[in-house]
Amino acid sequence: MSNSIYNKLEACLKSVREKTDFVPEIALVLGSGLGAFADEKVNVEVSVNYDEIEGFPVSTVPGHKGRFVFGTVGGVNVAVMQGRVHYYEGYPISDVVLPARLLRMMGAKVLFLTNAAGGINPDFSAGDFMLIRDHVALFAPNPLVGTNVEELGTRFPDMSNVYDNKLCEIILDTAKELNISIKQGVYAQLTGPSYETPAEIRMLGKMGVDAVGMSTAVEAIAARHAGMKVCGISCIPNQASGIRKDPLTHEEVQQIASAAAPRFKALIAEAIENISDYISTEGIS
Ligand code: HPA
Repeated sequence: MSNSIYNKLEACLKSVREKTDFVPEIALVLGSGLGAFADEKVNVEVSVNYDEIEGFPVSTVPGHKGRFVFGTVGGVNVAVMQGRVHYYEGYPISDVVLPARLLRMMGAKVLFLTNAAGGINPDFSAGDFMLIRDHVALFAPNPLVGTNVEELGTRFPDMSNVYDNKLCEIILDTAKELNISIKQGVYAQLTGPSYETPAEIRMLGKMGVDAVGMSTAVEAIAARHAGMKVCGISCIPNQASGIRKDPLTHEEVQQIASAAAPRFKALIAEAIENISDYISTEGIS
């Protein structure tokens, strides 16, 4: 049976392949405030705007540029997503995870996710980083609902080690080397676009959630389904609703995320090199 999701992916891949034959080893998704990573840390070979790719979802959020940057970081082939689409923009969930799947089809072995997230854990302060150790995705639609895309993965994929332990260790070691402090915790994806109420945050805290945002977990699910190794870091620009006492604005989130960006970018660039060494040593495909 022909699968419309896979057909769309193939059309996107064809469209990208008409522009470049670049094969990424690591795919990196840049969250709020981090877009400059692509301009500062990547030796760019070619960039492709999302709107040049047939059928590709294009972000409407201020501060989210929409393009792939293909190039190298410390000699490692990376595909960087400068901007991602969110479910709250109105796209079907299959479109939200289309880029992750497309990057897999281009050859990426690792998906490195970043985002901005509200801190729920009382030990977290604005400007902290959190290594994502696990997620709660139950409040967002599961991106694998519908006919399974057999070409990518199995119907009932295991999710017991979504954020790869070894990649997590590498990121922790890298942060230590660079003297960058990093917390660890569980990330929950909600749909947004409204921020949470204090009652919702209390509930999430009781469920064991450390940080909350509007992206990432669904992309991680799709990437694991397609056989990629996944890791992720949240920048915590704010304490979540109710923990902080004053109202939250998108501008503030962007501003604090941008202020933390230099440390974030240094950590990611170095971690990419260390992850690549691990991939080649282990012969990961
Ligand atoms: N909630 C949800 N998403 C977010 C937040 C938040 O407090 N901060 C940054 N992204």
